Amino acid sequence: MRKATTNVLALALAIALAAASVSSALGARFVPRDEHIDIGRRRALLVTDGNGSTTDFVETDFSSPHNFLMLSPTREGAYPAVVFAHGLCGPGKTYHEFLHGIAREGYVVVANLEQQDCSESLFTVFSSSPFPKLEAAANGGVMLGNLRQEVDFLLGNSSFDGENLALVGHSMGGGAVIDLAAELASSHPGLVKAVAAIAPWNGIGAKGAPRPSRVAHEIKAPLLLICSNMDQLVPCSGEIGSYTGASKNPMAKGLFNTLFKGTDDTWFGGVEAIKEDAMRGESNVTYVDLPDGGHFALAGISKEQLEGIGEEWGQPKMLVDMMLASGEINLGNPEDTGEEVREDVIDFLKQHL
Ligand SMILES: *[C@@H]1O[C@H](CO)[C@@H](O)[C@H](O)[C@H]1NC(C)=O
Ligand SMILES: *[C@@H]1O[C@H](CO)[C@@H](O)[C@H](O)[C@H]1NC(C)=O
Ligand SMILES: *[C@@H]1O[C@H](CO)[C@@H](O)[C@H](O)[C@H]1NC(C)=O
Repeated sequence: MRKATTNVLALALAIALAAASVSSALGARFVPRDEHIDIGRRRALLVTDGNGSTTDFVETDFSSPHNFLMLSPTREGAYPAVVFAHGLCGPGKTYHEFLHGIAREGYVVVANLEQQDCSESLFTVFSSSPFPKLEAAANGGVMLGNLRQEVDFLLGNSSFDGENLALVGHSMGGGAVIDLAAELASSHPGLVKAVAAIAPWNGIGAKGAPRPSRVAHEIKAPLLLICSNMDQLVPCSGEIGSYTGASKNPMAKGLFNTLFKGTDDTWFGGVEAIKEDAMRGESNVTYVDLPDGGHFALAGISKEQLEGIGEEWGQPKMLVDMMLASGEINLGNPEDTGEEVREDVIDFLKQHL
């Protein structure tokens, strides 16, 4: 009995955490040999190669048309580009390692830093008050609009070759890039060469963006879907939290329904439903169902980063640890999981860009 309650609370926290601000947890798992040099809004990334240092790419912050980060190879030229979309509440910087891994392959990477503030206390989640920041962050239409602007920005930028675009996203961003790919297939035929979605959230359709499993069949580019049933928040299929058994608890369901009105707790068939729909169309679909992988581990987000977020919110470490213990199930080494996913995505990009 006591154990079940713990799991419910932990799942609630996992959901809340997924919905929380992770704005500056960067750095915890930063590849140690990389060093950032600040030059105003531009940062050169130095990669030490044993003989000294070479500048690989430059990171630039843009604030117009909205806040986003651009990584571009230092050497002048025109490169393929990747638009990256973060998860719910936008831990944009939490994906640094992932983004750097992609940029290092010689791609321009654009990652939006909007919809990141969901800093309401975890405790407000348990009250009946609304969650305005969470609601703003969960607005798929806004995210989709920002991604569209990023594509337009790239099309007007000489460092993009104008032809080879890939879309990559995690969680809410995974759902958003599927929506965007479906849209671009008719507005910009042939532009998108590859779409990779890690634990894509099929619940994004609730607000202003189509449900991914309803539009995935419009995608023509190759699609890579990566998920795990160990993921408590966005499993490949089935009810959220089913691994811990929390999905059967009325309290967890109550919280879920409060946070995500009008949805069902399988996210309408989940990632599998997206796959099924995509396979009805022309896309070459690769579906990777990993035996292990927490929702955050899949994207290379570490325990330390998640603890940093908890600290930022002023949450007791005990609660955060509890959440991690039962919400972020990863039977193997989470770092290995993150690395495996990153390598799969990079291989996929190299194959199609
Ligand atoms: C260091 O430079 C030498 C000579 O240019 C080169 O052969 C070697 O591969 C470099 N070492 C590393 C680790 O890149
Ligand atoms: C194009 O991208 C570069 C970074 O590669 C940036 O410095 C420049 O301001 C961008 N140009 C325009 C017109 O946005
Ligand atoms: C489909 O995509 C996979 C993974 O990227 C690739 O290995 C395969 O060659 C592709 N098949 C076709 C017919 O393009």
